[in-house]
Amino acid sequence: MRILLTGGTGYIGSHTAITLSSAGHEVVLLDNLCNSQIDVVARIEKILGKKIVFYQADVRDTDALIAILQTEKIDAVIHLAGLKAVGESWQKPIDYYACNVGGSISLASAMKVAGVRILVFSSSATVYGDPKYLPYDEEHPTSPTNPYGRNKLQVEQLLHDLANSSDEWCITCLRYFNPVGAHESGLIGENPNGIPNNLMPVVAQVATGRLPLLNIYGNDYETIDGTGMRDYIHVMDLAEGHLTAIEWIAKNNGCHYFNLGSGTSHSVLELVSEFEKASGKTIPRKVISRREGDLPNYYAQADKALRLLHWKTSRNLSDMCESTWRWEQQRLA
Ligand code: NAD
Ligand code: WQD
Repeated sequence: MRILLTGGTGYIGSHTAITLSSAGHEVVLLDNLCNSQIDVVARIEKILGKKIVFYQADVRDTDALIAILQTEKIDAVIHLAGLKAVGESWQKPIDYYACNVGGSISLASAMKVAGVRILVFSSSATVYGDPKYLPYDEEHPTSPTNPYGRNKLQVEQLLHDLANSSDEWCITCLRYFNPVGAHESGLIGENPNGIPNNLMPVVAQVATGRLPLLNIYGNDYETIDGTGMRDYIHVMDLAEGHLTAIEWIAKNNGCHYFNLGSGTSHSVLELVSEFEKASGKTIPRKVISRREGDLPNYYAQADKALRLLHWKTSRNLSDMCESTWRWEQQRLA
């Protein structure tokens, strides 16, 4: 299939482009570069050994989307473009609703006009909110506790209603847990603007000396060692999940939801220890107060993706840390 990836030069989009192209699909990337760099296109081309089509555009520009969908004869779309920082979403709700919800409405409108009906949407485990039970399965109540999570749920609801309006639509919402790691080449990886919010990029930048130490947000949780636990998933496992999802949804109409996670969680201290092994570096750290809104522990029940998509994770925490370190070193080269 010819697949448009919105947010295609972003962290998950760039890795997904590699996996889709390597599996024989043709990818077209679109991005407004508000949180990624144009050189990612060349890096993807170097890994693939071929040219790829890139459009610098905003998903809120519906006319541009219609033109691209028609000109490029797109068969399916993976919608990754969006703003994703929970903390920032409290400070900039208008930006987040305009980009994440408005952008998705714009894309769906353009797809309707262009006659493209196959869509994979980047959702998030954040839609679940405080766990009523663990692991989260796809039937867990959705009650997001921040503007970003509400954006994701609202888009899911839009897509549910869109699929109900006409049986031509083939839509799947992928609820990612905590993507980390990088492509084995070390040529692409997570490259956040400014000081990162997420644990893995912070640890990586402490290891290279770009940050002085890791602040650990609390060690008094009821977890194995008191620090927060999360379901980390290698970004290449996640990319493979997109491949299986888009090939499945192309043959199944309606709107479907899948958790993409490993099904296990690791603590902050476990991740830091693995990263020290992978990098040979000591990570200076300091325990400070809990971060507002953090949950003690959450992880995925990913049986549905295994049952229907025949997908499950294959890479472990060590692979995640080693690949992140390779990427971080390459950035400094
Ligand atoms: P990212 O910021 O690296 O990638 C998003 C890309 O979208 C960036 O390249 C950015 O420039 C682009 N973009 C943003 N707004 C745009 C717009 N209006 N028009 C066109 N391009 C736009 O983030 P990521 O980690 O690759 O996340 C991709 C998607 O996955 C996002 O929708 C995010 O909410 C979702 N997600 C991410 C995580 C995570 O922890 N990384 C977890 C769950 C869900
Ligand atoms: C992981 C653990 C922190 C940084 C976020 C978003 C979620 C999704 C994935 C988009 C927690 C601890 C972190 C640090 C720390 N993104 N930590 N010091 O919060 O689980 O999920 O990213 O969809 O929506 O909420 O990920 O990496 O920020 O935190 O101690 O400097 O590491 O307390 O226990 P999180 P994270």
